[in-house]
Amino acid sequence: MAIISLLHGPNLNLLGTREPHVYGTDTLDDVVAVTRAAAAAAGFELESFQSNHEGALVDAIQAARGRSAAIIVNPGAFTHYAWSIHDALRSFDGPIVEVHLSNPNAREPWRHTSVVAPVATGSITGLGIHGYELAVAAVARRLAS
Ligand code: DQA
Repeated sequence: MAIISLLHGPNLNLLGTREPHVYGTDTLDDVVAVTRAAAAAAGFELESFQSNHEGALVDAIQAARGRSAAIIVNPGAFTHYAWSIHDALRSFDGPIVEVHLSNPNAREPWRHTSVVAPVATGSITGLGIHGYELAVAAVARRLAS
């Protein structure tokens, strides 16, 4: 069964209690469960990883090369400045979907830049946990075409 890698960056381990008015009350486990269910329904296995450390995410992206069919990634604040994550994603062959629970473009100006967007197949922002289901649908469609 083809694998989708689901990657989360810093502070997303605190989902559920971190600024719930911005990010909602779903925990990271809830996000992973919803994404895993969507992936299973589409015929994929989901592998999930979260880290607060940039290098660990670079390692996870490199490990996905030749192993995972697609990457769904919410890089947290790394979105806005982590060029090592940009470069690592650039080296990945399959579809990449960037997901954000909130809409960074509707927030502080420093969140308006994504260094991940230029190397993503597409980005889904501002739709909360539902964005992850949409990301799986997008990946499945992309891999089928
Ligand atoms: C986020 C948006 C980022 O700006 C922020 O740093 C996060 C979460 C989101 O999912 O909305 O940690 O990626």
